[in-house]
Amino acid sequence: MAALKVTFVQQDGVEKTIEGLEPGQSLMEVGRNNGVDGILGDCGGSCACATCHVYIEPEWQAAVGAPDEVETATLDMAGDVLKPNSRLCCQIALRPELDGLRMRVAPGM
Ligand code: FES
Repeated sequence: MAALKVTFVQQDGVEKTIEGLEPGQSLMEVGRNNGVDGILGDCGGSCACATCHVYIEPEWQAAVGAPDEVETATLDMAGDVLKPNSRLCCQIALRPELDGLRMRVAPGM
């Protein structure tokens, strides 16, 4: 299976593209393991902290999909910086359809 890549655009505008990824890991793990600024993952990916908040680029929103009820409730913690394209990236598992995904790291809480 082909290796996948994703791009995080950090708050400082610096883009971090991470390549050679295998399906199955969460995007929070990908970001944290590769030193993406602002992806803290404080709760370890259990959808309880909102420190993995990203904005999905519009052209990728359909492929990524919408947050479920639990994620929506946790996203509410993001308050003022919540947007229609907000997602918690610990809740997004990397899969082949997301190869090339771009997302922006949301401001910290
Ligand atoms: S890592 Fe805590 S909500 Fe995603």
